[in-house]
Amino acid sequence: MRILVTGGAGYIGSHMTQLLLERGHEAVVIDDLSGGHRDAVLPGATFVEASIADAKAVAGAVAGCDAVVHFAGRIQVGESVTAPRKYFRDNLVASLALLDAVLDAGVRTFVFSSTAAVYGDPESTPIVETHPTRPVNPYGETKLAFERALASYGRAYGLGWAALRYFNAAGTHGGLRERHDPETHLIPLAIAAAKGSGPPLRLFGTDWPTPDGTCIRDYVHVRDLALAHLAVIERMRSGGGGENVGSVNLGTGRGASVREVIAAVEAAVGQEVPVIDSPRRAGDPAVLVASADRAKSLLGWSAQASLYDIVRSAV
Ligand code: UFG
Repeated sequence: MRILVTGGAGYIGSHMTQLLLERGHEAVVIDDLSGGHRDAVLPGATFVEASIADAKAVAGAVAGCDAVVHFAGRIQVGESVTAPRKYFRDNLVASLALLDAVLDAGVRTFVFSSTAAVYGDPESTPIVETHPTRPVNPYGETKLAFERALASYGRAYGLGWAALRYFNAAGTHGGLRERHDPETHLIPLAIAAAKGSGPPLRLFGTDWPTPDGTCIRDYVHVRDLALAHLAVIERMRSGGGGENVGSVNLGTGRGASVREVIAAVEAAVGQEVPVIDSPRRAGDPAVLVASADRAKSLLGWSAQASLYDIVRSAV
């Protein structure tokens, strides 16, 4: 297959490109390098340095492709609250322009990077895909709005789509790295703190209603995420490409607390993580854990890596 990977110079997109190339597929990466890195575009991929909102560039990049995997977008929850314009413009308006260009090119298989943030504060856990979607920040709003556009376009234009709702993507594979600027994610910050290459870790809240008082999340290895995307593309292509898969959670179904992550980092690095107990971070739910049942029954996919595997790979 020939696959267009938007945001293929970014963290999850580069891992997707790596998997596609490994499996003998062709990958075309489109990325404007606003968040991605030129050296994360693997040598075997065709690279188009452009925005996904550039219809001409997308038309050229998507020509001859069997499917599109759409990772490009902004990802910081906190920034989305203070600068929502960036999020509605880059995650929604630009994605709609991309989708128009994809439809105009006759491609009908579209896989979207969505997020657990579409659920907002969970009413029940583990979270199933039919759980109400009430995002509590503009980041989640923009991802949900684009999922809804996909559903409407799917009905009207015969577009086959899947929205993969990631829980906490983490880890690295095959020499690739996680390089966000600024880095806000727990695992890279805890590793930097343990190694002394970053400041002590601020632990956001020790009084949550959880067994050890810290937030619980569902950490899923980025390589497992890439494998899930390939499984969904293969499923859609085997059915002709236009299947409406809908929304699917990608998580492990198991939660880990911040303190458990810190313990895993200490074991993997062999050094203590210096920690400063800090107030809760605005917008954090106490517990976010996926039900992984739909991904298993629909795609035959389940995450393989343990928390320790994830942390070890990131170290
Ligand atoms: N945390 C700390 N200290 C830090 C960083 C994080 O204590 O310096 C805690 C957070 O409070 C949270 C947990 O570690 O409890 C994980 O935080 P991350 O920032 O690594 O990840 P989030 O759960 O906030 O965010 C992830 C994705 C988002 C997505 C969100 C909701 O990164 O894109 O899940 O699904 F929107």
